[in-house]
Amino acid sequence: MSKAHMLRGVCLLWQVALMTAAGSKLWDVPTTSNNLSESLQWQPHCHHRLLQDGVRITAEIPPKLEGTWLSTRCEVRPGPEFLTRSYTFHPTRHFQALQHYYSDSGCEDPAYSLLIQGKLRLRQASWITRGATEANHHLTKVAIVVHSLAAKQRLVSRLPPSCVAPTLGRVVTGKPHDLHNTRAGRACLAAMGFSMMEMDVVRVETQHHNHGGEIQELFLGDIQTDWTQRTHYRPTGYQQPLQSAMHHIHPCPVCALVYRSTEQHPPVLPHRPQAPISLARRWVSQQCETRPTVLFLTREFDFNPDQHSWEGIYRHYSDPICSQSTFTLRASGHYAQGNPSVKVPGATEFVFKVTEVRVTAEDEPTTKLLNGTKMGKCGRAGAWEVGVEQDLSPTHGCTVLGIKLPHKEYELFKVELDHRRHLLLYVGERPTDGSSPDRPSRRATSFQPPLMLCSGGETLPSSRNSSGFNSKQVQVDTNGTGRLTQILLVVLGSAVCSWIWLF
Ligand SMILES: *[C@@H]1O[C@H](CO)[C@@H](O)[C@H](O)[C@H]1NC(C)=O
Ligand SMILES: *[C@@H]1O[C@H](CO)[C@@H](O)[C@H](O)[C@H]1NC(C)=O
Repeated sequence: MSKAHMLRGVCLLWQVALMTAAGSKLWDVPTTSNNLSESLQWQPHCHHRLLQDGVRITAEIPPKLEGTWLSTRCEVRPGPEFLTRSYTFHPTRHFQALQHYYSDSGCEDPAYSLLIQGKLRLRQASWITRGATEANHHLTKVAIVVHSLAAKQRLVSRLPPSCVAPTLGRVVTGKPHDLHNTRAGRACLAAMGFSMMEMDVVRVETQHHNHGGEIQELFLGDIQTDWTQRTHYRPTGYQQPLQSAMHHIHPCPVCALVYRSTEQHPPVLPHRPQAPISLARRWVSQQCETRPTVLFLTREFDFNPDQHSWEGIYRHYSDPICSQSTFTLRASGHYAQGNPSVKVPGATEFVFKVTEVRVTAEDEPTTKLLNGTKMGKCGRAGAWEVGVEQDLSPTHGCTVLGIKLPHKEYELFKVELDHRRHLLLYVGERPTDGSSPDRPSRRATSFQPPLMLCSGGETLPSSRNSSGFNSKQVQVDTNGTGRLTQILLVVLGSAVCSWIWLF
């Protein structure tokens, strides 16, 4: 077991335990017949730009997958890989997934498409990723269509000859060729980093808008950021969702193109002018986000380009609709803008330095956990109280939270205009193993969910006030958390989750 895996295991354990402590029973795994619909009046901190009227979000377990689900933009996966997807699920549990890969970051130049067919069996509600349903898939076909000679040459040059000679070498451009039915073909797929493990974790969210509209999104498992781990990684977080072909945000020009595509006619996305990178002002999460280490959070950033300073507020929750706060982290420091990225055209490199971190424990279990840390390891030991912020500078961070100060990270940012002409900020994906991009070689090649620009001049609620979230379907029950906290402290006594919260 690698060190990274162990770290991750410990972090996971802690998260799961925290969630348990927060009142949800860990071993009471919900069965597929349970009604776990969740609702939320979403009133984010940045009122003008976000879902202003309040939106109720529900997620059924098991999810109803029937129908077609589409990319809403050119997606970026670690590598980087640029792609669009169209997945169709039939009532018979059969699915057909189309993945179109491109040679450019704007999805304008199709390289090859994969036509994937198989069967999906939904299992039980996941107890690792709350709100998700676990599933097993079985593939029956994976055909490739290469769209140009240049694309074929690029593909062939990066794959081992043992797989290429009997298969890809013979592929005729524009014609489908099944790779799944031969050993060499499957070896090629593996070398291409192909895996449908993303289907092992599924969640469908429905947003009910006050004016009557409905939007449905399909969340599938996340993709490992480490290429070597990718094909056997079991996801615990999500990728950016696909939208329902029936219930999506209108207008969605990309959805329409992706919907009409076939493996032989990949969608060619219209050229989108790059927005200049200007970070000034405040950016906020558009929804409750999840991280592979089973963290639910919202992020908020404030940049001051004149001073090269920044502040980030990370609100952490124990549930997938971000209604039960666990702790809030306020980090600040300086940053420097670097060069345009060579690997991910259109993105820019940054270096961030964190010099100050303040933490507020928002619930009893987290407070107890922090309060029980050794003197000098995490703020003032024995002085933690629910809702009271502590500065971690005097202890140079917090061992239990894996925060070390000062701290430097190599980042990748991209600013884009969406089709509604809203500015979006993409920040580099966190390494799946919970490590930190603390050297240039670890810089991300893909992105987290985009943050939205708040219109100027607004003042926000104080950093640790989560009054914007007012769903309380689960009652907090703190019985027995004392013992649990004790166990946690034993587990965490010497363990350090690495810095998994920044950005
Ligand atoms: C499931 O929960 C939702 C929201 O709480 C409720 O409206 C609905 O009636 C429930 N469905 C069933 C089958 O109990
Ligand atoms: C924190 O620890 C101190 C010293 O052990 C104790 O007196 C205090 O009650 C604890 N506070 C909480 C909220 O657990």
